[in-house]
Amino acid sequence: PTRIFDNADKASCQVALEIAELIREKQSKGENCVLGLATGSTPVNVYKELVRLHKEDGLSFKNVITFNLDEYFPIEPKELQSYVRFMHEYLFDHIDIPSDQINIPDGTLAKEEVYDFCQAYEEKIETSGGLDLQILGIGRTGHIGFNEPGSGEVSETRLITLDHMTVMDAASDFFGEENVPTKAITMGVGTIMKADRIILMAWGEGKAGIIKKALEGPVSDQIPATYLQKHPNAEFILDEGSSAELT
Ligand code: F6R
Repeated sequence: PTRIFDNADKASCQVALEIAELIREKQSKGENCVLGLATGSTPVNVYKELVRLHKEDGLSFKNVITFNLDEYFPIEPKELQSYVRFMHEYLFDHIDIPSDQINIPDGTLAKEEVYDFCQAYEEKIETSGGLDLQILGIGRTGHIGFNEPGSGEVSETRLITLDHMTVMDAASDFFGEENVPTKAITMGVGTIMKADRIILMAWGEGKAGIIKKALEGPVSDQIPATYLQKHPNAEFILDEGSSAELT
């Protein structure tokens, strides 16, 4: 299922509203709301709207537990391009989520610690009750999280090597291709597919080609976003640009 909006701003506000509804519905039942979150340019206005709903509309995040999809490896949280820093700047510093309910893959681990960390990340998602909603962007390689082409359908949280195209796309953020980490820790395709509900967002014409492949192409590990075709409750939220090539 696909929903196409006039522009990314309207679409982002709608996604924020639906996240807020889910949080409030869970609150009314005295339950936690477990959210899978993404970084990058795509969700920025969703977070901005959630912050507005917190400040102006009383939306509380006290019952929210978050798991971010991915983080570069290695990277320090204080670095400009760190996803820990991103999440605090765009969302966490402006809402009332308890800090011990925030989970982001750790880019500061020693390499030999990564495997155990990834196993524990999977377990923590499970023991929190599983992801109620996972928010996704999509890379030009068709990656979701940093599950690059070749990622298996049941892959779990793990250390991966970034695709060359992804490194190129991150080059400006890192002031040069040579500064982009070659690796990242990402939730797996299987981790994402276990979410009760998935919303993938994409904005602009630059994403039109990959959106067409993701929605209309055959399911294949060469375009990991195609796995979402098999999920019972995954939606693509698009603007005019990103939906331009759909038949
Ligand atoms: C980020 C992530 C990536 C991005 C994708 C699109 O946490 O998991 O899959 O969603 O690379 O990036 P933007 O939104 O910057 O175009």
